[in-house]
Amino acid sequence: MSEREERASEIMVGALDAVALEGRVLAVGVADDVVRALGATGLEVTRWDRWATGGREASALPPEGPYDRVCMRLPKGRDTLSAMLALAAAELVPEGKLWLYGANDEGIRSVSKQLRDSFDHDESVDARRHCRVVQASGVHAPRVSLRDFRTEVEATAGGRTFRFTTLPGVFAHGRLDEGTRLLLENLSVDAAAKLLDFGCGAGVVAAFLGERLGPTAGVDIDAWAIECAQAQPGTWVVGDGLAAAPEGLYDHIVSNPPFHTGKDTDFHVMDALITSAPSRLVKGGRLTFVCPSTAPVKRALDAAFSKVVLLADDRRYRVWEAR
Ligand SMILES: C[S@@+](CC[C@H](N)C(=O)[O-])C[C@H]1O[C@@H](n2cnc3c(N)ncnc32)[C@H](O)[C@@H]1O
Repeated sequence: MSEREERASEIMVGALDAVALEGRVLAVGVADDVVRALGATGLEVTRWDRWATGGREASALPPEGPYDRVCMRLPKGRDTLSAMLALAAAELVPEGKLWLYGANDEGIRSVSKQLRDSFDHDESVDARRHCRVVQASGVHAPRVSLRDFRTEVEATAGGRTFRFTTLPGVFAHGRLDEGTRLLLENLSVDAAAKLLDFGCGAGVVAAFLGERLGPTAGVDIDAWAIECAQAQPGTWVVGDGLAAAPEGLYDHIVSNPPFHTGKDTDFHVMDALITSAPSRLVKGGRLTFVCPSTAPVKRALDAAFSKVVLLADDRRYRVWEAR
């Protein structure tokens, strides 16, 4: 757990000291120690995790309520917060309360506007160690569905125009990422090749390939990404890492793997992909992926594969292919 996550959890747990409740609480994206503390107050805890981080079971929608309380870890991005708040608030009883907690540098001090879309009142109940817990009440959330937050995107890459759907917080929401564009422009797939898109996001690779697509699967840690990708033909699963991909061996693994954790550059998912890809490829199968030009991947690629080719380099991104 990061130092910031620890501080945020600590203040949320501290804020619970004053409450002794019975009823049901929906815990949205909260750390395990906060879940335990919620349970200790007498509340019956149900989790909703949108991201399958750390082996958590993730789903696109909260388990059906009603709930007396919602305890939510502040997600990244204002439109993501609005959408997740609306979905969680719709599960609250009319006299229910929501606690939203996070760090100042994540934007917890300026959540009023998003809260007022679903609640009449909000107040800060604790603020310490650069973190805050905000309580909202007077819920007036109408029933919403994920569809209400969808954006249809039309994009062009390699002279080909294609469409896909995104949701708030899904990678590059509402546009085609420049790294993905370079990958698509340099991607050749064999007809009928069994393809895996690792970190598939909204299913952009499948949308681009269109009728050139063979049997396809994808995995992403974000349940909303998978919700979008499911518009494309294939098997799409929510999960953490290559081990979570649908069973079997693939002819071709394609990826624009993540290279950030929060604000920090972090290549560990990409490194794990390179190391473990050979075990998920048929003999002679290939891995094609894009990464920042600064990513030190060559040594790992040479160690894992016998043939490594740099397909493209636009100074910002590189596309590698390895067999
Ligand atoms: C750079 S984005 C690329 C998304 C999509 N392929 C595209 O190009 O638009 C990386 C994706 O990997 C997903 N991701 C991050 N960590 C992951 C993990 N440990 N396992 C699976 N997917 C992960 C993210 O949710 C994100 O959708």
